[in-house]
Amino acid sequence: MKEILLELRDIHVHYGGVKALDGASVSLDEGEIVALMGPNGAGKSTILKAIFGISPMESGEVRWHGISIRPVPHEVVARGISFVPQGRRVFPGLSVEENLEVGGFLVRDKKERQRRMREVMEFFPVLKRKRTLDASALSGGEQQMLAIARGMITDPKILLLDEPSLGLAPKVVKEVFAKIKEISDRHKTAIMVVEHNLMSLLSIASRAYVLDKGKVVAEGESRRVVESGILEKVFLGGEKAI
Ligand SMILES: Nc1ncnc2c1ncn2[C@@H]1O[C@H](COP(=O)(O)OP(=O)(O)OP(=O)(O)O)[C@@H](O)[C@H]1O
Ligand SMILES: [Mg+2]
Repeated sequence: MKEILLELRDIHVHYGGVKALDGASVSLDEGEIVALMGPNGAGKSTILKAIFGISPMESGEVRWHGISIRPVPHEVVARGISFVPQGRRVFPGLSVEENLEVGGFLVRDKKERQRRMREVMEFFPVLKRKRTLDASALSGGEQQMLAIARGMITDPKILLLDEPSLGLAPKVVKEVFAKIKEISDRHKTAIMVVEHNLMSLLSIASRAYVLDKGKVVAEGESRRVVESGILEKVFLGGEKAI
């Protein structure tokens, strides 16, 4: 049987009285792009945080190449997993270049770090052009590119992206997603992405999971998931439709 790159089995996470994950299981294979969908509060970010070792996991198993691991952030990074959290986090007060250096601090070898910096800047020409500017001077789309670029500096095997399109204009969303697709095509990076935008999702993700109230309520080929009507059901079933 083929070995699965990353697998989460029956994960339970509570925040005080709030059940964020209630027995969720997801997996990610070599080189594939998988989407996590579902209404606000469904547990999507918590899944990514569980993989990264920053959510209070009570029970369940995280398997890396078929072996059970207890995720701890610095070990997860060393294994080749990068996390780009929700909300385009860049460091204001630092230049574009310095923001990238922060992502590269784990690449010990200076030459190698510089090579990766160059490679990432070639990949995002806008960041190269604006490398000396303060990160806060970038547009929203550029900041998102910077956040993704910072995640790429370590040349990860897995990229976890939390809502990369949030708050961006449709044209910019297209650009960001084209870049994400290119990352996957060029580097065979496996990507798990939280996304609300159906068109973007269909354009890149081969598989999708739908979460609702901490549980996976549907999974499969992304087009089938979208066509199944489950999304309308979970989005309209919540307190607030979005
Ligand atoms: N640090 C925290 N402290 C307390 N409750 C939390 C915390 N983080 C998440 N939660 C709760 O856990 C549940 C799942 O949150 P999570 O952030 O995973 O949802 P999400 O699907 O990413 O939602 P959104 O689409 O709004 O980003 C929610 O009810 C949320 O309020
Ligand atoms: Mg979230």
